[in-house]
Amino acid sequence: MNVLITGGTGFVGSALSQKLAGRGEQLTVLTRDVGTAQRRVGTAVNAVASLDDAEWTALDAVVNLAGLPIADRRWSEKRKQALYASRVDLTNQLVDALAQQEQRPRVLVSASAIGFYGDGGDSLLDERSRPHPDFSHELCAAWETAAERAEKLGIRVCIIRIGLVMGPGGGMLKRMVPGFKLGLGGRLGSGRQWMSWVSLQDLVEMIVYLMDHETLGGVFNATAPNPVRNSEFTSELATVLKRPAKVPVPAAALKLALGEMSQLMLAGQRVIPARLQQAGFTFRHPTLREALVYSLES
Ligand SMILES: NC(=O)c1ccc[n+]([C@@H]2O[C@H](COP(=O)([O-])OP(=O)(O)OC[C@H]3O[C@@H](n4cnc5c(N)ncnc54)[C@H](OP(=O)(O)O)[C@@H]3O)[C@@H](O)[C@H]2O)c1
Repeated sequence: MNVLITGGTGFVGSALSQKLAGRGEQLTVLTRDVGTAQRRVGTAVNAVASLDDAEWTALDAVVNLAGLPIADRRWSEKRKQALYASRVDLTNQLVDALAQQEQRPRVLVSASAIGFYGDGGDSLLDERSRPHPDFSHELCAAWETAAERAEKLGIRVCIIRIGLVMGPGGGMLKRMVPGFKLGLGGRLGSGRQWMSWVSLQDLVEMIVYLMDHETLGGVFNATAPNPVRNSEFTSELATVLKRPAKVPVPAAALKLALGEMSQLMLAGQRVIPARLQQAGFTFRHPTLREALVYSLES
């Protein structure tokens, strides 16, 4: 199988590239920095700086994961535009390029995020749940709409609303663990907000599952079946690290430090992967404890 991956050098993309290369698939990775990408994903992978340089003729699948990190900087208007450009504009360019091909890949698996639902409060959210309109909803909705355009080209489109990814060496844990190890961990705000997470290994398996199962299409929540409140997440992480977590961060301090972006930490979503479960997907790490042990000890 020939697979094109955008964002193939990232935390999720490099784990996916490794998995697919291990299955003997031929990979092309779209990247802004070919040299670094080639070092990161290996010389067996074809790294290209432009969609024009990709080998389109024998392409079987596209996985679209590119996106500027959402939690790295305050959401100024300029930053919001860059977040849009790296997701929505890039996805539109990808679908435009697909439209120009005579021979098209069979499937596009395209990233979105559980931020699609906005602040979900305590409601249990499946793929049919109504979103709460805020910036993260608008961004994800536009991202999904861009990818869904590929359906009109006869391509099977699977949108994955990704939860907080837990895995070794990256993602949210990489930022949290140093503070927790120093004994400076604690709940955020009230700690009652929900966190829907997924292990990196399960997320990679989900992407491959959707690529391989030709009857599956549409939107899928890419989360584990057991979301937790922030207070439970905090105590589980502290337990696995064998450290206390008694330094809560007040909501007002987060709002002051992060502005609108504090929504990411103070609001939450209680998401269940209803469609993947109905489709028979089985989880390697269904509980947070299992995902944390895998992330921190492997
Ligand atoms: N990790 C999570 O917890 C999480 C949760 C929900 C959704 N997601 C989404 O899932 C996707 C993968 O996440 P990740 O954790 O693997 O992200 P990551 O490690 O930050 O990697 C992001 C990738 O996107 C590419 N990229 C970044 N900025 C870009 C830009 N301006 N234009 C084009 N490409 C750009 C990078 O490729 P190059 O540097 O090689 O160009 C990189 O490979 C992202 O879209 C993210 O928003 C992640």
